Amino acid sequence: MKPLVHDPDNRLWLLSTPSSGYVLRLAPDDSPRHVAWGPRLTLEQALSVSVPSGGDSSFDGVIDEEYPAEGPARFGPPSLQVRFDGGARGVQWHYLGQESDGGRLSLRFRDDHYPLEITLHYRVHDDSDVIERWATLHNTGADHPIEVLRCDAAAWTAPPRDGYRLSHVTGGWSAESQLERVPLARAETVLTSRRGHTSHQANPWVMLDAGDATEEHGEVWGAALAWSGSWRIAVHHDPDGRASWTGGAGHEGISWTLRPGQRHHTPVFAGLYTDGGFGAASRQWHAYQAGHVLPQAGELRPVTYNSWEATGFDVDEDNQRRLAAVAADLGVELFVMDDGWFGGRRDASAGLGDWTPNAARFPRGLGPLAAEVRRLGMRFGLWVEPEMVNPDSDLYRAHPDWVLHMPHRTRTTMRHQLVLNFARDDVADWAYKWLDELVGQHDIEMLKWDMNRAFTEPGWPQRGADGERLWIDHITNVYAIIDRLRASHAGLRIETCAGGGGRVDLGILARTDQAWISDNTDAVDRIAIQRGYGQLYPARTMAAWVTDSPNPHTGREVPLAFRFHVAMSGVLGLGGDLLRWSEPDLSASRAMIATYKDIRPVVQHGELYRLGDDAVQYQRGDRVVVLVWRLTSRPPHQPVAVRLAGLEPGARYRDEDTGRVHHGHTLRTHGLVPPLPPGDYSSALVRLRRV
Ligand code: GLA
Repeated sequence: MKPLVHDPDNRLWLLSTPSSGYVLRLAPDDSPRHVAWGPRLTLEQALSVSVPSGGDSSFDGVIDEEYPAEGPARFGPPSLQVRFDGGARGVQWHYLGQESDGGRLSLRFRDDHYPLEITLHYRVHDDSDVIERWATLHNTGADHPIEVLRCDAAAWTAPPRDGYRLSHVTGGWSAESQLERVPLARAETVLTSRRGHTSHQANPWVMLDAGDATEEHGEVWGAALAWSGSWRIAVHHDPDGRASWTGGAGHEGISWTLRPGQRHHTPVFAGLYTDGGFGAASRQWHAYQAGHVLPQAGELRPVTYNSWEATGFDVDEDNQRRLAAVAADLGVELFVMDDGWFGGRRDASAGLGDWTPNAARFPRGLGPLAAEVRRLGMRFGLWVEPEMVNPDSDLYRAHPDWVLHMPHRTRTTMRHQLVLNFARDDVADWAYKWLDELVGQHDIEMLKWDMNRAFTEPGWPQRGADGERLWIDHITNVYAIIDRLRASHAGLRIETCAGGGGRVDLGILARTDQAWISDNTDAVDRIAIQRGYGQLYPARTMAAWVTDSPNPHTGREVPLAFRFHVAMSGVLGLGGDLLRWSEPDLSASRAMIATYKDIRPVVQHGELYRLGDDAVQYQRGDRVVVLVWRLTSRPPHQPVAVRLAGLEPGARYRDEDTGRVHHGHTLRTHGLVPPLPPGDYSSALVRLRRV
């Protein structure tokens, strides 16, 4: 079946992915209507799907909209809200035509009266069930601006079912990505960030199931937004059991103008249907990002050392050299110096914005340290926070108008800092220039791009009311700067960070290589954080450090092996004060890092199977890696067998450490007893190879 089939007589389109089908049509009034999203369909089947008659109740209104716009008899959460000159709102759809090319479809409409064109875009890939959607607005008039109050990327609809559940993540700083799986209220449920970044409190994806999906079985519908600023996903669950959700950039209450001649492209809101349960949904999302989102997905991420938890703001050439020497000896491949290397930075209160090396700490600049790191055989990386400024900085003293601010309003500081208005081209130019110079001068191989506070007083006084576009333009300029930096520095890789996991989404991951998913490095807390993260995002992006015990955030004491085994399920790094680690710990770390390098292709590029709450399995080709964590030992204090997934039932698998051979069938049905040592916080790693 071709990926796109158009039936002009019935004004219907059928999109097909390897195992899903998506159908839409035009109603007699030209408005686009949703027909079906689920298993693959033939055209004949697509034409036979029953569609709501619309009824003639004076209260219900249209319920099957493909892209709900305000207008006649539409009462659900709108994807599009516009106001024209003279006060008219909404859209009266007039179909202009379609364009299709391979897996790409664009449906063009205009308003019946006002100068607005709307294009709905769809893209399918032959190796993924993820369907990408976005929209374009175009003010085709010559005279009048159009006020845009909301312009979502897409609305998705799942068929009527009893008992929908909503899966999503909640949390906060140091507790990101906490998975929630709750009955979907018969109401509107809004997931949102009003912070100017993706947020720690919510992440722009949803998954719905009819209460019957498990890890490996059942239908799951979901969608994820490729946007790193404020966002909103509004889920609507109607009394007939139908669930739909619209999502896009920006939160409610902001508006901006589309000037005559101007076009606006929304970010992508990608959707996925699978009947393989939450596990298959995650694996599909991971494969989609590897194939179509991440810039260098085929690379293996290096083992990193980061200075933050060792030296805090007190970095200097001497302590970084000493840490680098130990890190290199352990097998670390990338040394990243964190905050504190620039301007008058001595703590969080000063220096942000002044991106030249602190002369007292680095009297000879960064060159000697970078050279020493390379002499030790590692790559060199650096922490930056380009979008921020401390009031106590030369930059702010010179450009107090460069920050987000409003007339007659206090400039609220958070972590002693203000947000630079990256929507301004002069600010964006300044940022690109110093970053380009810094990266070029030292051949920097990794930037940890941080963003440590939310937007407040989000104004741009010279722009007046239209300054609210900064919610969007700030982010598009951040994207443009990163894209330019990558284009001019082929060896540069970037880690996204916003006080830990405050900026992770498909938009930033299209231009970064990995994410710092939480400032919380406590291995026990990490299990839940990583579990929530992995629902959508792949292990190859999940930076995870082994740090000191007791943990500096939580005070919890956890054995070294457990800390390693938790971090080894992502992109392994070290973040502790290695100068104080004991000789036995250093030698155990050296061995664990070597083991990680052996399993790294399986973890970073394999398929993830979650085995209960405290074990994960990665599989790639003929290799399988299982990591098991046991928090508390309980009577009878014997390890319990863990059933593996995804293996070939007829194949045999040899344990690479013990030589023992297992049958795939019994590993799936009876499981594997993991070699957990006695006691609390015990953990195990098992490597299997198909024979
Ligand atoms: C944020 C990051 C940390 C560290 C500090 C430095 O909190 O998440 O990892 O880089 O900033 O100030």
